[in-house]
Amino acid sequence: MIEYRNLRIALLGAGSVGAQVASLLIEHGTELGERVGAGLELVGIAVRDLKAARTADLPEHLFTTDAESLILGADIVIELIGGIEPARTYLELALNSGADVITANKALLATHGPELFEIAEQVGAQLYYEAAVGGAIPIIRPLRDSLAGDRVRRILGIVNGTTNYILDRMDVEGDTLEEALAEAQRLGYAESDPAADVEGYDAAQKAAILASLAFHTTVPLDSVYREGILAITSEQVAAARRSGFVVKLLAICERLTDPVTGVEGVSARVHPALVPDTHPLAAVHGANNAVFLEAEAAGSLMFYGAGAGGVQTASAVLGDVVSAARRHVIGGPGVAESTRADIPILPISSVSTRYRITLEVADKPGVLARVATLFSEHGVSVEAVRQDARPDGASPTATLVIGTHEATESALAATVAALGATDVVSAVSSVLRVEGL
Ligand code: NDP
Ligand code: HSE
Repeated sequence: MIEYRNLRIALLGAGSVGAQVASLLIEHGTELGERVGAGLELVGIAVRDLKAARTADLPEHLFTTDAESLILGADIVIELIGGIEPARTYLELALNSGADVITANKALLATHGPELFEIAEQVGAQLYYEAAVGGAIPIIRPLRDSLAGDRVRRILGIVNGTTNYILDRMDVEGDTLEEALAEAQRLGYAESDPAADVEGYDAAQKAAILASLAFHTTVPLDSVYREGILAITSEQVAAARRSGFVVKLLAICERLTDPVTGVEGVSARVHPALVPDTHPLAAVHGANNAVFLEAEAAGSLMFYGAGAGGVQTASAVLGDVVSAARRHVIGGPGVAESTRADIPILPISSVSTRYRITLEVADKPGVLARVATLFSEHGVSVEAVRQDARPDGASPTATLVIGTHEATESALAATVAALGATDVVSAVSSVLRVEGL
């Protein structure tokens, strides 16, 4: 039974996600209102172009290009425009007018989250962002609430649906990166500028958000190490598969101790990595996402599901709508973000991990010994070596695949530079980190 007044909901943006949110709100608004005990009324949808085609059939009278007037008359504002401006200005306006705000905008949260959370705290409003990481997967609320009493040690996540879709198509269908990206764009997974996906910016933004939540400390976006997937070749993906690995773009957030300074801190990084084909993350296909998390008391947890897509992401947004509406009915101020731990943020050079390096070498006596010496001179311990020899031809060659024990980024970089400079190595054809062993 509805006992509270109607809550006025303003929607900013009606693209892949916004159109589905509007459609579901219109279709299920009454039922959602009954869950909350308040009427939920979508009062308007602000867009850039009133004539643009929509992926859902929505009432024309709701559309406007006057976002500011819409915001000022709302109890709850949902921002699904994306990008920094005007989204940031609109969110500040909404919060300052006392509205609760819901956003899926990881780019904005990763760069201006602390300012927005501060405004929300000052005015007693709440900023919800379940859809900003992992699409439909509930991961923000579990980190903020369910695991708030535990100590998260490490997060290993596939948090970008587009790149997972691309790497999976390269692996399973043999597509090129370009073919798979075009399909991901057609399916609505990619950002408006897909460089955000393939160059790892989107995953880095999500890593900053996850790390800040998990470690109760603000992890700035520019402290997140980032490599995208543009340098990954079909040959690397196929060779990984033959050796019992899959290539995934991972976001890794962890507590660690710098091996040189002994400083204890946290780090966040995004890069392609080899994952054993038996690891749960290897079974994450298509545009799905998964967040594999290790906490001191809870142990290992995995959150899995659709990481991108309009209607899937709309589910997470609607969950936030229900939470915001419940808060209105109950009353009282919003809950502030927990970022007061102030833990040092460590750079990528503090990280140690395993590597798999592929070299093209001359197949003659002494080469293996020379290569092994270079590893040992830089303090990198070799775990396994595989050689595929090509004995035919005047100058026989071989491919050497070398797996290392854990080594620091700096030791590995120095080893790779030395390998590239020695005359017995004709090419360093692949250097990939190995995670999840
Ligand atoms: P789209 O590009 O599909 O849609 C953006 C919408 O915003 C369009 O309706 C556009 O209007 C509107 N818009 C753009 N500029 C303005 C403006 N200045 N004033 C008013 N409206 C404006 O984006 P998505 O729906 O894909 O993404 C929305 C947000 O959700 C982004 O932050 C994205 O990162 C995030 N997200 C997206 C996911 C996905 O799978 N797509 C998954 C998880 C999060 P018009 O249509 O008139 O051009
Ligand atoms: N472009 C993003 C992705 C959308 O592919 O994961 C979901 O955040």
